[in-house]
Amino acid sequence: MKKIPVWIDCDTGVDDSMALMSALRLEELEVVGISAVAGNVSLENTFRNTRNVVALAGSDVKVYPGADRPWIKPYVDASFFHGKDGLGGVILKESEAPIETEHAWDALYRAAKEYNGEMKVVAVGPLTNIATAVAKYPDLPEYVSEICIMGGAVIGGNTTPWSEFNIECDPHAAQAVFKSGIHVVMFGLDVTMKAYLTGEEIAELASYGNEAVRLIEIANRIGLDFNESIGRGRIVHMHDSCPVLYLAHPELFSGKRANVHVETRGFSSNGKTVTDLYSLFDTKSSATNSTVMLEIDREKVIDIMREIFKKY
Ligand code: RIB
Ligand code: CA
Repeated sequence: MKKIPVWIDCDTGVDDSMALMSALRLEELEVVGISAVAGNVSLENTFRNTRNVVALAGSDVKVYPGADRPWIKPYVDASFFHGKDGLGGVILKESEAPIETEHAWDALYRAAKEYNGEMKVVAVGPLTNIATAVAKYPDLPEYVSEICIMGGAVIGGNTTPWSEFNIECDPHAAQAVFKSGIHVVMFGLDVTMKAYLTGEEIAELASYGNEAVRLIEIANRIGLDFNESIGRGRIVHMHDSCPVLYLAHPELFSGKRANVHVETRGFSSNGKTVTDLYSLFDTKSSATNSTVMLEIDREKVIDIMREIFKKY
């Protein structure tokens, strides 16, 4: 089976770490490069966390540093949820891989050209690195056919009542990506909130007794406690695993083509992914810039997660 070449841009982060560990074990995918961006925690922490998770997975895939702040908005992190270091307090063995210094956007563009249009991009943090690549390399759309993002929401938000963290953190970059001409497969909160793990399911994974599931068990404690405290139940959401699992198992997800616009000027709408699910607005242009995912087969996802983490 021909593997799908994938570039992963992330702000590791607890759920990013699960997405990375999944991507590095899914036989359908070939992770060709990884980049870190400021988001959940600072770039220094996301870069170190990403390198260390890749080392935990026993992978030699290179990790490149990206932006340390959003394009325009002041940088605000999500350390309340991911812990100051970004992995819920888990200290991983330091990676011994050489420290890459090439900028994420340059390395991504170089890989996209090398794979001559076959490479997919998965972006599970703020879209600053991706937007910078689009801005610096106007021909990037010739080499990247699809960007699968964790971000946004048709309805609601988790950072403001109307916006999801990755988009809220850098709405200007997000708007640039949606308007880039590269098709966006959007895994917003509408579907990622359905991609949850219960405390019991995490305990079951933890029973496999390897380093990967130890990370999952400990790093998710803050999230389990937080969600339980606000009445959501003792669950955590595998937001970032959704676009990764989609590339390997597209049958697990369903959604709708739609135009998406990111609000960048509103007071109580800034960072909103305004989604025209029923083509009520721009009815002239038949082209839609996104596929917005809405449904997931959670039970099958959990089965795949069990298979993945038994391999560690
Ligand atoms: O809103 C959830 C998203 O924000 C996830 O990607 C999480 O890692 C944080 O970056
Ligand atoms: Ca993330």
